[in-house]
Amino acid sequence: MPHAKPSGDLVFPELTEDVVGRIAATADARVREVMEMLIRHLHAFVREASLSHEEWRNAIEFLTQTGKMCSENRQEFILLSDILGVSMLVDAVNNSAGMGLTDSTVLGPFYAGRQRELEPGDTILLREEDGPPLIVEGTVTSQNGDPIRNALVEVWQTAPNQLYDVQDDAQPEGHLRASFRTDERGTFSFESILPVSYPIPDDGPAGQLLQMMGRHPFRPAHVHFMISASGHRTLVTHLFLAGDAYLESDAVFGVKPSLIVAPEERDGSFRIVYHFGLEPLE
Ligand code: BEZ
Ligand code: FE
Repeated sequence: MPHAKPSGDLVFPELTEDVVGRIAATADARVREVMEMLIRHLHAFVREASLSHEEWRNAIEFLTQTGKMCSENRQEFILLSDILGVSMLVDAVNNSAGMGLTDSTVLGPFYAGRQRELEPGDTILLREEDGPPLIVEGTVTSQNGDPIRNALVEVWQTAPNQLYDVQDDAQPEGHLRASFRTDERGTFSFESILPVSYPIPDDGPAGQLLQMMGRHPFRPAHVHFMISASGHRTLVTHLFLAGDAYLESDAVFGVKPSLIVAPEERDGSFRIVYHFGLEPLE
């Protein structure tokens, strides 16, 4: 512990008060509140870790590289937030799942905006793939169980090569992603293939950090859902496949037991039936 300081009084406490004092004129009360907390927590972190100059320079260089890695198709800050559990924590403080409501999980960086709208039962594949066929049948209801008609159900997943279309020039744009509308009974359905587990992009700073911390980059197999309906909070979630080797160690901490499903198999085809409950807005 070369940097450890003797315990006792806080190092330079008046600096923290000086910095906090200088934001007193912040016009927006929430900005002021959050910035004061951030300054206090950052200063406490530097004191507790007794950060060396070199460590702080490394941290700044790391964040610089994280920024440089970002492009239209790559969001390294989201990955960083995800692997440190911050995305799931922000979700937890904002979503209180309860009776009749489906748990939410991370959006992730591969949502590509609203996609072509398909008819019930259509396939979301734009080319043939070598994967076990999957049929997904869902219902969408409000918390009290009333079906929601005309809800927008957006879905996306990886191809068997462990990549989303947006990561892979060889895939047609929009492959394995689509949107659907629920009918008057709140139901929707589509055809796909079983998703596979895959590594999050690990050729940048987030990947280096995972490696430094002795962690793998894998996510268990899942299908993403974003379900929006008027008068309800938009649900961002996934369905995970039971039995996946990475359910206990998802690189982004996104697994919740209620979201794990065991597809029924018949003659090599799989079927998932799932009920999604949306929270009404007051
Ligand atoms: C995803 O599931 O698409 C994802 C989520 C977080 C980080 C990387 C990928
Ligand atoms: Fe994913």
